[in-house]
Amino acid sequence: MRRFLIDTDTASDDAVAIVMALRHPGVHVEALTIVAGNVGLEQAVQNALYVVELCGEQTPVYVGAAKPLMRPLEMATEVHGEDGMGDCGMLLHGRAPAEGRGADVIVDTILASPGEITVVALGPLTNLATAYLRAPEIADAVQRVVVMGGTGLHGPGNVSAMAEFNFWADAEAAAIVTASGMPLEYVGWDISITSAVVTQDRFHEREAIGTPLAVFARDVSQVVRHFAMSIGLEGDDLPDPIAMAHALDPSVATMVSSPVEVMVGDGPQRGAMSVDQIGITGLPGNVDIVTHYPSDHFFSMLFHALR
Ligand code: BDR
Ligand code: CA
Repeated sequence: MRRFLIDTDTASDDAVAIVMALRHPGVHVEALTIVAGNVGLEQAVQNALYVVELCGEQTPVYVGAAKPLMRPLEMATEVHGEDGMGDCGMLLHGRAPAEGRGADVIVDTILASPGEITVVALGPLTNLATAYLRAPEIADAVQRVVVMGGTGLHGPGNVSAMAEFNFWADAEAAAIVTASGMPLEYVGWDISITSAVVTQDRFHEREAIGTPLAVFARDVSQVVRHFAMSIGLEGDDLPDPIAMAHALDPSVATMVSSPVEVMVGDGPQRGAMSVDQIGITGLPGNVDIVTHYPSDHFFSMLFHALR
């Protein structure tokens, strides 16, 4: 069994990514650690607990950071809905998280099994940066860190011209993680909009599956679908699910190892990636950036998980 820990600001596309991992044969999800981002912390915790229950699993859900390291929380409820889950009336309250704090759970899980844990980070990197600051030795002990974040080699951003939401929301955390020496693999928003858009055809393919999980995936995306089409996409895109697909099956990805920095502070550079594409800095690559993930492969994995 491969062993995953998922860090998530659970909203619509995070939820679908979690379903993919929980239903993947050969993968055991040790824990979900929750961070504020798309929605507030308590809502994200309840959303994650709902998904675990929907999948009939017992995966523990741990409460993490309620706000970024050095900034106020700025959410994305206009993108994913007030409840983050498409505002379609799901019962998203009353479930109880496990005892323990997100960053501690990340540290303890990695250090208890050196070389065995893959972290999949689907939200702002606050919990992971906090874990690293507390125990820098996790950088050598973690097997893989797959991050949905950033803009790949060529952009564009989805909250500013240059920045993607997860890196923008907690730019300082993203900068700390990027410089940490962890074995990082970044799946940016560019990959989501090139390979993970739910076009009309894909929408109908999913409708034809007709299972409760397929209906769930449609319902949670109803607000984000509207938003995505308002910015010119052919449907809603699925950044966290395609990052999860890469975590589950990296064999079909194209990647390039590059020296990367994430820019901090405010202004247009907030959360943007500086990528040395030609080796001008002379620095070694610190991030494997996914530059292509085949769309057909992604949708086949996704639809398989929803059956
Ligand atoms: C990222 O931000 C959130 O809206 C999504 O869940 C995803 O993690 C995309 O920029
Ligand atoms: Ca997310």
